[in-house]
Amino acid sequence: MLLQDADARADAHDPRRLLMERSVAGRTAVTLPASDVPAQPLPDAALLRDDLELPEVTEGEVVRYFTRLSQLNFSVDTNFYPLGSCTMKYNPKLNEAMAALPGFANLHPGQPESQAQGALELMHGLQAYLCEITGMSAAGLTPLAGAHGELTGILMIKACLESRGEGARRKILIPDTAHGTNPASAAMGGFDVVSVPSDANGNIDLEAVRREADETLAGVMFTQPTTLGLFDVNAAEMCRIAHEAGGLVYADGANMNALLGRVKLGALGFDVVHLNLHKTFTTPHGGGGPGAGPVCANDTLAPFLPAPVVERRGDAYALADPPQTIGRVGGWQGNFGVLARAYTYIRLMGAEGLRAAADNAVLNANYLRARLRDLFVLEPDRGVMHEVVFSARKRRGARAIDVSKRLLDYGFHAPTMYFPLVVAEALMIEPTETESKETLDAFVEAMERIDAEAAQDEHFLHGAPYHTPVSRLDEAAAARRPELRWRPAAST
Ligand SMILES: Cc1ncc(COP(=O)(O)O)c(C=O)c1O
Repeated sequence: MLLQDADARADAHDPRRLLMERSVAGRTAVTLPASDVPAQPLPDAALLRDDLELPEVTEGEVVRYFTRLSQLNFSVDTNFYPLGSCTMKYNPKLNEAMAALPGFANLHPGQPESQAQGALELMHGLQAYLCEITGMSAAGLTPLAGAHGELTGILMIKACLESRGEGARRKILIPDTAHGTNPASAAMGGFDVVSVPSDANGNIDLEAVRREADETLAGVMFTQPTTLGLFDVNAAEMCRIAHEAGGLVYADGANMNALLGRVKLGALGFDVVHLNLHKTFTTPHGGGGPGAGPVCANDTLAPFLPAPVVERRGDAYALADPPQTIGRVGGWQGNFGVLARAYTYIRLMGAEGLRAAADNAVLNANYLRARLRDLFVLEPDRGVMHEVVFSARKRRGARAIDVSKRLLDYGFHAPTMYFPLVVAEALMIEPTETESKETLDAFVEAMERIDAEAAQDEHFLHGAPYHTPVSRLDEAAAARRPELRWRPAAST
């Protein structure tokens, strides 16, 4: 009896209990002030509902509930988050303070330009920095995400071809190591996607490009570095072949983290590139939060940039439409808060700092590559850029999903799994430059332990995670049949 009481008490404090389950009739979290307006008759009883089950809880309980809930979140501010391709690096808090300055945060995007000179100056400065970083001539800041930047760049290529009377060119080549959004963007832009294989070293197969480089070629969409975390050494030659055939070349520069201050994509021959400000330039991201995927273009494609761009006219800054613009791709001037964060980060780091960020991102990825290569399969086995892709097919009982789930028990976020598709049982690990050697060593140690666990009992990892608030989920059901509403337990 006593034991049961103790169980019931423990249950009452279980942080997983939903707010509805804590409800006790008569409790309240609000104290309404006395009314200072005359009482009004309530609407018709038919419009009033008394069947709403709302939780009756105290303010203290509400605070505890939501605070505990927030602590269940895994975040880059609490733990190592090696989610490959997502660049989950530390986001300096100074960015937040700058974006929250009242002069920025309270500015209405429709305010007259004369009252928004500071914001326009920031955007103008950011355009210039992004051009410097990519080696391009002009930038448009309005796309709201990386994939949105891709679609924007693809529409610019289309508009340019049409302006040359070459709208019949419909074929876009995309290497099999490109990011998954690339073919989707090309298809949305109305092009036919042709996948191009990689060679044994993970570079684009130039022979395959040559075979496809004919009068139907509209262009190539290319992720540099590739999703294998490799610098594709054939990129410049690929650009040359595509141009010779009359096509244009798009670079997915979302992984600029690896190249900052070291490689300018424009110098390799690309015509247009998008950047992910919410990755490389430290805006917090994830869960579909606001981002920005500016596009930077060379002289050929600059006239087609989306509207508006910011120009300097005499002493003032003004919004302008590029001469052959594809038009607007979103509302107003884009996600201004993200632009303010990126601008702050670039100013904070300076040219030297940005170069050091890329160097350390590459160093950290290669450190993990060297320390983990005995546990996993590495193909091709060559130096990587900002991330390293292993195959978890070496140890029976430790598939990519098992290793990832068990890592949660050790306090680390899972790496990206099963992507890129060209690697079986892929584990894509991106440490980023903001992690210390101690953190990376702790991660390696966890990986070694997981491997030892699988060696001892080949079924053990299949049940992981064991220590998280919820254990292994049916992920397909969670995505397809999510339970988003609280429902009272069925009465017996
Ligand atoms: C290489 C690459 N391209 C494109 C994207 C798409 O960016 P977004 O998720 O902002 O649409 C990502 C996302 O991480 C990426 O890694």
